[in-house]
Amino acid sequence: MKKKVQFTETVLRDANQSLIATRMSFDDFMDILPAIDDAGYYSVECWGGATFDTALRFLDEDPWERLRKIKESMPKTKLQMLLRGQNLLGYKHYPDDVVRRFVRRSIENGIDIIRIFDALNDIRNIKVSVEETKKNGAIASGAISYTTSPVHTTKKYVETVKEMQKMGVDTVCIKDMAGVMSPKEAYDLVSSIKDAVDLPVSVHTHMTTGLGFMTYLKAIEAGADIIDTAISSFSGGTSQPATETLVHALSQLGYELDIKYDKLKEINDFFKPVREKFLESGGLDPLVLATDSDALTYQIPGGMLSNLISQLKMQNSMDRFNEVLEETPKVRKDLGYPPLVTPMSQMVGVQAVNNVLSGERYKNIGKELRSYVRGEYGTAPGKIDEEVKKLILGDETEIEGRYADTLDPDEFEKMKSEIGDLAKNEDDVLSYIAFPSVAENYLRKRKEKEERQVKYTIEMID
Ligand code: CO
Repeated sequence: MKKKVQFTETVLRDANQSLIATRMSFDDFMDILPAIDDAGYYSVECWGGATFDTALRFLDEDPWERLRKIKESMPKTKLQMLLRGQNLLGYKHYPDDVVRRFVRRSIENGIDIIRIFDALNDIRNIKVSVEETKKNGAIASGAISYTTSPVHTTKKYVETVKEMQKMGVDTVCIKDMAGVMSPKEAYDLVSSIKDAVDLPVSVHTHMTTGLGFMTYLKAIEAGADIIDTAISSFSGGTSQPATETLVHALSQLGYELDIKYDKLKEINDFFKPVREKFLESGGLDPLVLATDSDALTYQIPGGMLSNLISQLKMQNSMDRFNEVLEETPKVRKDLGYPPLVTPMSQMVGVQAVNNVLSGERYKNIGKELRSYVRGEYGTAPGKIDEEVKKLILGDETEIEGRYADTLDPDEFEKMKSEIGDLAKNEDDVLSYIAFPSVAENYLRKRKEKEERQVKYTIEMID
């Protein structure tokens, strides 16, 4: 018997986020949770990422309550969330006290595994979350944001993973959010990580460029223990490779799997009409299900490419598209090769467009980009070009040390008094800190609804 391979199902989080902008409500998937719980998954990724924001903003749901309800319907399987380290679920940095509270309450509400990453792979930004996860008895998974560049070598990734091991992570994850990791790169990286540390390795990719299945197979041959997949009706395109396909292929190859195939069919039959519903409403654009190899040619993730096109269209400048395509990797190089994930993909893209359209490089500079060059997001993977740094910073100086240390440690108490009695507990305050205006709207609506109910009850007694 060959080694064991385990599965993380992403239909509730990443597949949901990548294909339909996280618009699945709890009611959409509630009835299938017991079957998912019986299917033999290593874990189910169901929270974090964009789920929190969209629940409050579009679905009129309390994300904390959603988590508790998932836990109730799925008591056996480990629930997993994605956390952006010191940024929690957003893009700004929070003081340590807020990060610790958020992590602790996530675990107390039902999370078993927290996958923690930083967009720049600056591990100072994941340290506090990792510590707090361990302290509360959950599994801390340290994730590296995968990208390719002259400074992103296997050696450097392995060093990062070793640092994470020292920090106390229980597992490591290679997180290829753009779906650009090739089978060879996966084989080499997983082998090197397995040689260097004695920790389970999980691999996360997307089908964007069509490499996904091959990448997983080679990653498994190199010793990967866990792969992220989506049930087939929510797989492919910008989502993950399909669960059933990999189960079929790997079991024939003799790998030991805990997955029950008949349960997968039941789960997929449930999600087919959900997909139909979103296709009909336009919430699922068939374009995101296609294979897009441009990301490999231009080294620009698919989502970023479509952003560039829409920016240029808005400014009636599609005729400059090729210049922008050439400028983008130059800007990335100037900035020390940040991985092109949010928020770096936006910063690099906007700057490339500005540089081309204004006819002068770094004439117009965004606020976020200035913060990045100051070091507020962490240390750049490579060296930021000195000339460009001068152009962007002017008289401003770079920050020293970790940005979170410069933040107000009393943020929680301040925000708590600011939101007042709209917040009923610590979770409400944390929602407010994470997404102030969106959470305030939600909490206000909730209060009005409750007041109406009270009134109705009184009338009934009358
Ligand atoms: Co992803």
